[in-house]
Amino acid sequence: MPINDFFRIHSGCCRAACEASKYIFLACPLWLLGCDGPQSALEPAGRAAERIANLFWWMTAGGVFFWIAVIALAIWAVRTPPEAHNQRRASLLIIGAGAVVPTIVVAVLAIYGLAPIPVLLAPAPEGSLRITVSGEQWWWRVRYQLPGSDPVVLANEIRLPVGEPVEFRLESPDVNHSFWIPSLGGKIDMIPGRVTRLSLTPTKTGVFRGACAEYCGTSHALMSFYVVVEDKETFERWLAHQQTPAPPPSTPIAAHGQELFLANGCGACHTIRGTGANGLVGPDLTHVGSRLSLGAGILPNDLQSFVKWIASTEHAKPGALMPEFGMLPQEELQALAAYLKRLH
Ligand code: CUA
Repeated sequence: MPINDFFRIHSGCCRAACEASKYIFLACPLWLLGCDGPQSALEPAGRAAERIANLFWWMTAGGVFFWIAVIALAIWAVRTPPEAHNQRRASLLIIGAGAVVPTIVVAVLAIYGLAPIPVLLAPAPEGSLRITVSGEQWWWRVRYQLPGSDPVVLANEIRLPVGEPVEFRLESPDVNHSFWIPSLGGKIDMIPGRVTRLSLTPTKTGVFRGACAEYCGTSHALMSFYVVVEDKETFERWLAHQQTPAPPPSTPIAAHGQELFLANGCGACHTIRGTGANGLVGPDLTHVGSRLSLGAGILPNDLQSFVKWIASTEHAKPGALMPEFGMLPQEELQALAAYLKRLH
């Protein structure tokens, strides 16, 4: 098709594309308003996340630059009278801008995009903190592997010392999950029968949010966790405290709650170190009262949420393995909540 006819036929499409692009371009800053907060890859607080955010901004800048160049060319083509286009210039433009430039751009972007991968996948140095996280349906089992002593087991919360590399060993007993703390780094799948590894180095203190990034069943969207990055001294104090058994109940209502906990068989699934409860199916509750959330990031950690969780688990997290205990009288639910909330 002669180039003049091509432009004549496509000028209508170009105008429509120009109009649409203008609105998309104007809307971009609005989308970016939602890109900060505790779960944002664009507000990095870790070494790997910084590299990923850098890559994102360079890719975005490159995309915007070439988008403007293409739109400018389209506008120029539409506004120039068809007779002004000559065949030789058009052929050069098609070969140059249609084949040579895209090949160079894609090659540069591929090299630049792949370059950080060895850095992102590099293992943490020998002697670094090692944490095993298992993706469960639908919560996170967290084990701090400590040389020379038993692992410290908790759930749905990870604490890290700032500036120190940490290696996560990630596993799953049944279905695929994906472990992702956007503020600290990239995500990696948790695959049954395999151990995947992810090394991260947090660079800022704060509370960040992680999530499951792979559809894993009914409550996939209700499977989050908090990551607290703190100075080394505070972290070590916290870890030492996590190793201790649960404190004995300090009030009559909490003591009643402990009796109910043991009498209702909760200990068949949950461990509370220092009591007869040593089940391994559900989350370890030894220090549950001190965690930032309940139900894997979905409820605040308060008395009301404990009652809600115990009495209507299915409503709070559809498909959860824990049976509901809504048949218990309100007074017993309150006692259970009082006991668990005091497990600091
Ligand atoms: Cu676990 Cu999605």
